[in-house]
Amino acid sequence: MTTIIDGKALGQKIRSNIAGEVTLLKEKLGRKPGLSVVLVGDDAASQVYVNMKEKACIEAGFNSSIYRLGSNTTTDELLNLIDDLNKNDNIDGILVQLPLPEQIDEKKVLYKIDPSKDVDGFHPVNVGLLNIGEDTLFPCTPYGVMKIFEEYNIELSGKNAVVIGRSNIVGKPMAALLLKANATVTICHSRTKDIPALCRNADIIVAAVGIPKFVTADFVKDGAVVIDVGINRLEGKLVGDVDYDGIFDKCSYITPVPGGVGPMTIAMLMYNTLKSFKVRNNLL
Ligand code: GUN
Repeated sequence: MTTIIDGKALGQKIRSNIAGEVTLLKEKLGRKPGLSVVLVGDDAASQVYVNMKEKACIEAGFNSSIYRLGSNTTTDELLNLIDDLNKNDNIDGILVQLPLPEQIDEKKVLYKIDPSKDVDGFHPVNVGLLNIGEDTLFPCTPYGVMKIFEEYNIELSGKNAVVIGRSNIVGKPMAALLLKANATVTICHSRTKDIPALCRNADIIVAAVGIPKFVTADFVKDGAVVIDVGINRLEGKLVGDVDYDGIFDKCSYITPVPGGVGPMTIAMLMYNTLKSFKVRNNLL
């Protein structure tokens, strides 16, 4: 029997719990959590994501400020904005939507964000804390995958987990979170020899490679848990990094695309913003 993981329902549950908590905290502290989102340029997908983030903030009862900057914005202009947001006590979270236009020094920008407000978990201080096993602000997508494991009581300790993809946004932090949860972790990437053989040894496969239907039935051992982080357009349809229909019967658990990991990312952004708000008010 294969269980289809309902990320939409879990994301919604997390978001409504957050909204409830925000109502109580607002009474107690006299202010709401504040999230600033910075979008530079006119990338179509980024505009959709930022609009979804704004809607989620309103629903959660947060103060949100969205900065939509022109595609000619300079690194210095962006650094000055981040400096202002770092100093603003009403702002608990700062997110700079990626990708940035190429004239902007992405590293300089991400490294400028106050680590205590870094709700994406991309600042090297937070990356370092995660990698030495500390609690901190974790990147939203892999953290959302960890919440799926928790919700569905999927055991990680001592399990073989294979992560396909080594991006700073998903693959690497995913591997670090799985390791922190005592899984034995293998990271596969474009230079890896025989990815299917490594995957066949996995109790858990997380695909974050950005290639439509990359993971096929010959990758999957019977009873494996398969998590699909991919969102690709193929012949006008949204498809993930796994061949869902082809592997379905072999899996014990599988995430659909859409409706699996995707909705968890925004839920965890709200979660991280609330966490930052609580830490900054000495409640955690
Ligand atoms: N672009 C694609 N995914 C992300 C993300 O998780 N955070 C930010 N800031 N930009 C992204």
